[in-house]
Amino acid sequence: MPGIVIVGAQWGDEGKGKVTDLLAERGDAVVRFQGGNNAGHTIVRGGQTYKLHLMPSGILHPGKVCMIGNGVVIDPRVLTDELDDLRRQRVDTSELRISANAHLIMPYHLMLDDAGEARLGNLKIGTTRRGIGPCYADKAARLGIRVQDLLDPKILKQKIVAALEPKRLTLRPFAKDPRLDLQAMTEEYLTYGHRLEQYIHDTASLTWKLLDAGRTVIFEGAQGALLDIDHGTYPFVTSSNPVAGAACIGAGVGPKDIDEVWGITKAYATRVGAGPFPTEIDGELGESLRERGGEYGATTGRPRRVGWLDLVALRYAARINSLTALAVTKLDVLSGLDSISVCTSYRGGDETTFDEFPYHQTILHHAVGRYEELPGWSEDLSNCRTEEDLPAAARSYLDFVADFVGVPVTLVGVGPGREQVVWTAAARDTVPAQAVVA
Ligand code: IMP
Repeated sequence: MPGIVIVGAQWGDEGKGKVTDLLAERGDAVVRFQGGNNAGHTIVRGGQTYKLHLMPSGILHPGKVCMIGNGVVIDPRVLTDELDDLRRQRVDTSELRISANAHLIMPYHLMLDDAGEARLGNLKIGTTRRGIGPCYADKAARLGIRVQDLLDPKILKQKIVAALEPKRLTLRPFAKDPRLDLQAMTEEYLTYGHRLEQYIHDTASLTWKLLDAGRTVIFEGAQGALLDIDHGTYPFVTSSNPVAGAACIGAGVGPKDIDEVWGITKAYATRVGAGPFPTEIDGELGESLRERGGEYGATTGRPRRVGWLDLVALRYAARINSLTALAVTKLDVLSGLDSISVCTSYRGGDETTFDEFPYHQTILHHAVGRYEELPGWSEDLSNCRTEEDLPAAARSYLDFVADFVGVPVTLVGVGPGREQVVWTAAARDTVPAQAVVA
């Protein structure tokens, strides 16, 4: 003990990587538990920028054990490229451990992701086209290829044949694609197996040992609560569960191993891809927030949709995750606005008011935010390091969020650098921050 889960409390891209990187400094190990290289973290450290897609964010701290849990789907080409990049940047990756039970993204998963989106036309989800959905679908259909299969040429080939069989019809347009050649695919994946073998491990049992020895383990989520396949805005969601409960499944621990759940939210909202977004801001203001916040996808480069902070959705995220702490990132981006809108309820298509996040998709699709206007501030926040440094209006904004959601704000981001954070007084009660604020 203790186990600390870090999850996105919105639609992903909240800045989980930066927070995990900060908390990892206080912890002993970081385990990623779901998603794949649809995620993208950018961490700025010592003037250098690191772009991570699969690697747990703790990898930048020498000596910390970094695990890719069984719940993650791994594209081994992306993982080996990422390992090469990190080595080039002189990052020690020797403490990486990859679960033997994690599933692999295969070339046909990428093709099926493309084909699925093309087939949906206007109804497309706007996936990252990294093969995530088809890979999780094969996992559920028990046709998945797992990391351990990379070490057994015979089994690997057999499993690829079995996985391809039911996909013949859908893959027909790709029949001549060299990536589908059985022999070539098997050989390519065996090569990845050789490269990754040193890292393959029973990550669940390693996690138990660390927890039993009293070490601090950070469970790092990808995406966000509203992209959860069960609790998000289905079908405009990812194909895994980015909520805290999934840390247990995707890392192989029990609920009692979790002591704290940190939800990460931006001071405003963004979403990539299609689907309902009740607080979306169009026009010039949306454009200027996008530019100021650098809101372009770390994985796909797509411009993100931008909106006001949606407290109805955030309170819902707090509930389904049992959040114990909130980290609010990018507060600096809101500087210079006369007033800031926060969404405190929704107006439905027939003028009904919704105080709670609606479970019905039709209501959600027509919902638009009702707002309270809070005073803005003009000061540049990038050099603030304590709560006292923040302008009164910025502090009131944070208090309003914490009161509405019912979860204390423990950490505030005021710029891209890892040092550009404010630990609040509420952080004193949390495990990872104690050493910082003591
Ligand atoms: P998929 O995960 O690639 O299948 O995409 C499904 C939906 O989740 C799309 O709307 C994506 O834009 C969104 N999505 C997936 N990963 C992320 C992420 O890391 N940040 C933000 N959106 C994401």
